[in-house]
Amino acid sequence: MNETALITGSSKGLGKELALVFAENGYNIILHGRDEKDLQRVQEEVSKYGVEGIVVRGDLKYPETIKALYSEAKRKDISVLINNAGTPCPGLPLNQRTPEQTYESIIINLISPIQITQRIYEHFLKKNEGTIININSFSGITNQKFRTIHCANKWGLKGFTDTLKLEAKENGIYVIGVYPTRIKTRPEFTYGLDPKELAKKIYTHYNTKNIEDIIIDGRPKEFKK
Ligand SMILES: NC(=O)c1ccc[n+]([C@@H]2O[C@H](COP(=O)([O-])OP(=O)(O)OC[C@H]3O[C@@H](n4cnc5c(N)ncnc54)[C@H](OP(=O)(O)O)[C@@H]3O)[C@@H](O)[C@H]2O)c1
Repeated sequence: MNETALITGSSKGLGKELALVFAENGYNIILHGRDEKDLQRVQEEVSKYGVEGIVVRGDLKYPETIKALYSEAKRKDISVLINNAGTPCPGLPLNQRTPEQTYESIIINLISPIQITQRIYEHFLKKNEGTIININSFSGITNQKFRTIHCANKWGLKGFTDTLKLEAKENGIYVIGVYPTRIKTRPEFTYGLDPKELAKKIYTHYNTKNIEDIIIDGRPKEFKK
């Protein structure tokens, strides 16, 4: 029987490439995002590998979306959770951000992966196995001017990831953090890691049972100071 991976934010970008590489390797995928057309397209691509693409559509700011993801994850008895969904955070001085923008950014980028993990962790504990991969960022291990909220979210996710490792491993559950620099997921990015290559790297790391974190600095020389 095929194993199943749940990948949040798999309607596009890195999440989509992760879905395709796991599908190519025989995993059913629980696909998630908000854009119906994008999700349909990824579902079609996934099914070309002869595996199932199950769509859960919903905004992560709503508890119903977390519940729906958990319910599908339990039904399909997933073996891997990838917390990938995230919203971009434009660089702005702290005083120029509205409290509403800040709140929404924290809900999507920090609270929702914690809430999903909490539920799936319970499921993994029952079977004493499972892998949780948290897609973080270089912003989770460095401080960057005008990116206060983004760095707070990603540093928070790192704290959660590193601390969960301590209690998860003794229960047969592996937790991996991924810390890449810019990924070329948008045409306007003039440089960035290739999302397909990064997805392959993450899959290989997982498949070879390497439980070290993945830190990749793909910045051109002029950006490394
Ligand atoms: N791109 C980079 O340079 C970079 C660098 C380092 C780390 N990362 C991290 O890598 C991950 C993926 O980034 P990406 O560049 O691939 O992002 P992306 O192309 O913008 O895709 C983001 C995904 O998250 C989903 N999403 C966003 N907000 C959501 C919400 N409120 N509710 C539900 N789903 C939501 C989107 O779904 P819909 O569009 O369908 O709503 C989409 O599937 C993120 O965690 C990001 O922080 C990115």
